[in-house]
Amino acid sequence: KRILFAASECVPFIKTGGLADVVGSLPKYFDKEKYDVRVMLPKYMCMKEEWKEKLEYRTHFYMDLNWRTQYVGVLEYVHDGVTFYFIDNEFYFNGFAPYGNIYEDIEKFAFFSKAVLSTLPIIDFRPDIIHCHDWQTGLIPIYLDNFRYSNEYYRNIKTIMTIHNLKFQGTWDTKTVRDITGLPDYYFVPDKLEAYKDANYLKGGIVYADRITTVSNSYAEEIKMPFYGENLDGLMRARANCLQGIVNGIDYDVYNPKTDELITNNFSVENFRKEKAKNKLALQEELGLEKNAKTMMIGIVSRLTDQKGLDLIAYMMDELCQENIQLVVLGTGEERYENMFRHFAWKYQGKVSANIYYSEALSHKIYASCDAFLMPSLFEPCGLSQLMSLRYGTLPIVRETGGLKDTVVPYNEFDKTGTGFSFANYNAHEMMDIIRYAEHIYYDKKRDWNKIVEHAMQQDFSWDNSAKQYEQLYDDLI
Ligand code: ADP
Ligand code: GLC
Repeated sequence: KRILFAASECVPFIKTGGLADVVGSLPKYFDKEKYDVRVMLPKYMCMKEEWKEKLEYRTHFYMDLNWRTQYVGVLEYVHDGVTFYFIDNEFYFNGFAPYGNIYEDIEKFAFFSKAVLSTLPIIDFRPDIIHCHDWQTGLIPIYLDNFRYSNEYYRNIKTIMTIHNLKFQGTWDTKTVRDITGLPDYYFVPDKLEAYKDANYLKGGIVYADRITTVSNSYAEEIKMPFYGENLDGLMRARANCLQGIVNGIDYDVYNPKTDELITNNFSVENFRKEKAKNKLALQEELGLEKNAKTMMIGIVSRLTDQKGLDLIAYMMDELCQENIQLVVLGTGEERYENMFRHFAWKYQGKVSANIYYSEALSHKIYASCDAFLMPSLFEPCGLSQLMSLRYGTLPIVRETGGLKDTVVPYNEFDKTGTGFSFANYNAHEMMDIIRYAEHIYYDKKRDWNKIVEHAMQQDFSWDNSAKQYEQLYDDLI
């Protein structure tokens, strides 16, 4: 069976968030005998040179995007046994980041979506299924429907739309989108591409895909309700029989405390007590925090946006800093949150470290060195950071929503089960209470704490299980 992934970001080539982790790792974990899974991505100018120079030119052609005629270059590279194709066009993909202004992105990803389909006959790879990820590829099922009328080649290709984040839908005014895409008026109606008078790429993808998935079971349920539905809850309910949740995994080869070369001391479930403490001391030294292996260290690695529950943290920061803890933050995003953390790092020197940039290396060190990881998200389709934390024995403190609810089992001190700590309501004091409770276990019941760490490290969030569920879905469709 031949499957094509189409996506806008992918590790190790280009990453802004968890989508890249998923697209970059999941294809490796399919049964290679049965599934030929390949990936198609844009060739962004902002990709690192070390990757760009490896890509091999395969072919090029010209494609109409309504009244424009555009160059489509196709490059190829095999990485870890998976074939990646890159769509090249310097007009669209020359930005300093993969995404820019929404009005640019709207045209960029219309081009990409149409180019993906147009490339297939030329490289002679006819997939049985095109597996689309997020709004950037939402037009693929629509263009496919449109192509089918005139071209035999595209008949019977099935599509899956995976929603990694319903918040981002790719919407722009209908008239412009009609002009950009060249799609007929037929699609620009409220039961197809249109939502609330605008054209909406993700909605189009959801309406036209044969199956819809999202990245955890809880999120699949939540998005059928107005609070999480981002104005598409009605559509999610209407398509409920084609919608399912498959929880994300992480790449256990990359995120492996035993072999990770980005961390100071490697460790396993046998020796984490000593080795994690050494990592903590090294990180305290590196970041200029007070050196004390006993102090509870809480980590945050996150896009700094409302989704991640940062207003709860902002509200509690002063109070949190009265506690006997250290806080290490790594992230970029909304300016008000970046400056909030900078402010508290200045106010509580030696106690709070604010690292407002992107760093793969520091992220691994945080996962490996901290005692707890704070992620009080407002909503969370799946979340990968808490899975990375579990893997490195850093106990997640999360809000019970979406994938966080599905992957972190709250500690129960009576039957001694659980892998972390959680609270239910989106409320700053409730979050603070659970942080204090975690502190109490950490300082007063260290033996119990270490047991939880063991449980956490023994969880299996590799791709093995979830890749099988995708295989099952592919089998059902074909
Ligand atoms: P989302 O995709 O919503 O941002 P996830 O938890 O699914 O959230 O994935 C986030 C990914 O991005 C994780 O791999 C996390 O380690 C990484 N990440 C986020 N911010 C940074 C940063 N500033 N530096 C390095 N890695 C980061
Ligand atoms: C999105 C979501 C996150 C999820 C990731 C990968 O960015 O915000 O929860 O883990 O996609 O699916």
